[in-house]
Amino acid sequence: MVNIEEITNVTEYEELAKQRLPKMAFDYYASGAEDQWTLKENRTAFERIRFRPRILVDVTNVDMTTTVLGFKISMPIMVAPTAFQRMAHPEGELATARAVSSHGTIMTLSSWATSSVEEVASTGPGIRFFQLYVYKDRNVVAQLVRRAEKAGFKAIALTVDTPRLGRRESDIKNRFVLPGHLTLKNFDGLDLGKMDKSQDSGLATYVAGQIDRSLSWKDVKWLKTITSLPILVKGVITAEDAHIAVEAGAAGIIVSNHGARQLDYVPATISALEEVVQAAAGRVPVFLDGGVRRGTDALKALALGAAGVFIGRPVVFSLAVHGETGVRKVLQMLRDEFEIAMALAGCTKVSEINRSHVETDIDRIRIAARL
Ligand SMILES: Cc1cc2nc3c(=O)[nH]c(=O)nc-3n(C[C@H](O)[C@H](O)[C@H](O)COP(=O)(O)O)c2cc1C
Repeated sequence: MVNIEEITNVTEYEELAKQRLPKMAFDYYASGAEDQWTLKENRTAFERIRFRPRILVDVTNVDMTTTVLGFKISMPIMVAPTAFQRMAHPEGELATARAVSSHGTIMTLSSWATSSVEEVASTGPGIRFFQLYVYKDRNVVAQLVRRAEKAGFKAIALTVDTPRLGRRESDIKNRFVLPGHLTLKNFDGLDLGKMDKSQDSGLATYVAGQIDRSLSWKDVKWLKTITSLPILVKGVITAEDAHIAVEAGAAGIIVSNHGARQLDYVPATISALEEVVQAAAGRVPVFLDGGVRRGTDALKALALGAAGVFIGRPVVFSLAVHGETGVRKVLQMLRDEFEIAMALAGCTKVSEINRSHVETDIDRIRIAARL
């Protein structure tokens, strides 16, 4: 077992998790869809963005706190929903919940968690969002939303990019199925907690059977009739959809390509962010997930208009290696990196981070066109 003190960045956890986890589990966590072009692009697009730091600013105190949907959090880095966390560690989502609340930030619990909303709530206080997949059976959805509300979850992140499951080829090859001792805990009582083996990815087969492919914007309005919780629309990557999301009453937008696990060859989320921010025009906050592995990535996203970012894989990989302590470590590393990045860019508050702090390829083209 590697000594936790020796780990210096978030990315190191991927290789360590690979050594520790059964192949089927690691592949499920790591893979993207088909050619995995977008998976790579989610990272390389961050690498193409450069900073324009401001110097000689007094950075004795750097305040990373911010407010999301009215909740004050310690930094604009939050946790995205990732399914089946007990496949990484026996304490699964409970360990994540404890780690995230110890850092004073927000955890989003997946519909497909291997711990129920009530179990996660029982870990103690914390600001938590519930990610929703819409099942064909709307009674199931209504019940689940009510349970999340009762358990104290503060918002619904409605995932809108998964009418079918993207083709993740290693899951197809591995005939991925949830290990026999685990269930989709939120659905246990509804007889939908088990995933059967199939000639395909077992998850793809489950989705094809249960998830509502007909989901459309009118369902966002329906969802608003069954809950008073704010709804974040997760999976918007165009200005067109950002406009509709605001009109449909979304309280916020998450620019996400599902960690590159759905439609391959969509842009990196950091490349799509700015058009969504412009379309939202300050009416609702815009968040981003996908490829965030450094504090500098968070700073780039905020400079391009995001109100905060979420991380997915780093949580499951660190959970696999060091459990709750690993997730705490990931959040600590990102916090430390973000603080230094803010200081070196000359920002003492999150509200000071703005578009002038970064330069993108588009800026270069615009400047060249003016010459
Ligand atoms: C293993 C894994 C499981 C995921 N499960 C869900 C899920 O249940 N619901 C959902 O909306 N998104 C899910 N996602 C997508 C994440 O919420 C998020 O969009 C993505 O992981 C962010 O990219 P990153 O992993 O590069 O940080 C999952 C992603 C991964 C990697």
